[in-house]
Amino acid sequence: MNDFIIAPSILSADFARLGEEVDNVLKAGADIIHFDVMDNHYVPNLTIGPMVCKALRKHGVTAEIDVHLMVKPVDRMIGDFIEAGASIITFHPEASEHIDRSLQMIKDGGCKAGLVFNPATPLHYLKHVLDKVDMVLLMSVNPGFGGQSFIPGTLDKLREARALIDASGYDIRLEVDGGVSEKNIAEIARAGADTFVAGSAIFGKEDYKDVIDTMRKELAS
Ligand code: DX5
Ligand code: ZN
Repeated sequence: MNDFIIAPSILSADFARLGEEVDNVLKAGADIIHFDVMDNHYVPNLTIGPMVCKALRKHGVTAEIDVHLMVKPVDRMIGDFIEAGASIITFHPEASEHIDRSLQMIKDGGCKAGLVFNPATPLHYLKHVLDKVDMVLLMSVNPGFGGQSFIPGTLDKLREARALIDASGYDIRLEVDGGVSEKNIAEIARAGADTFVAGSAIFGKEDYKDVIDTMRKELAS
């Protein structure tokens, strides 16, 4: 696994050719696949569920699938996604009645667990569950849609999250999601992120390898 993880969001892929799109983006150098689950309740959009995750596994995808749950309630979807072959499951703490229980359900199912913070959601939820969290995902747009602009205030929040993680001593990835592109990825890494979700910046281009290579060059700069 690379030190920096590039996680294309299939929200911007061509859903009519999803298996092929995932194969192509992995061949182009992506590390993991970011899988956005929206329920038209917690967020104002509706996407894909566990059946699609299962179908990707059946298609032969072996890469980690990073399931970002934008759903309320959370817990029912956890079991379904564990069964469907998810590798990482993250959820928004304010969408869960019992955050510790939801994290534990994910861990008990053998998946990595994470919490997602909207741009205006404070990080304080993390404090008492740092030992159960493998990933912190900071949203750099309000969740619900691809193709939005990166909210600059996220950079300060990234620095705050990075300091908190480092001080905890736990091995926790810091992922950022929304408006990430080859143009701002270096600055986002400098603020402390190590895992980068990008939807439109990758799937909106003809040549996925070219944009992922450019991102890696920027990260090395
Ligand atoms: C937004 C989703 C993102 C989205 C990012 O709610 O969580 O993963 O696909 O899309 P871009 O990279 O286009 O901002
Ligand atoms: Zn996402």
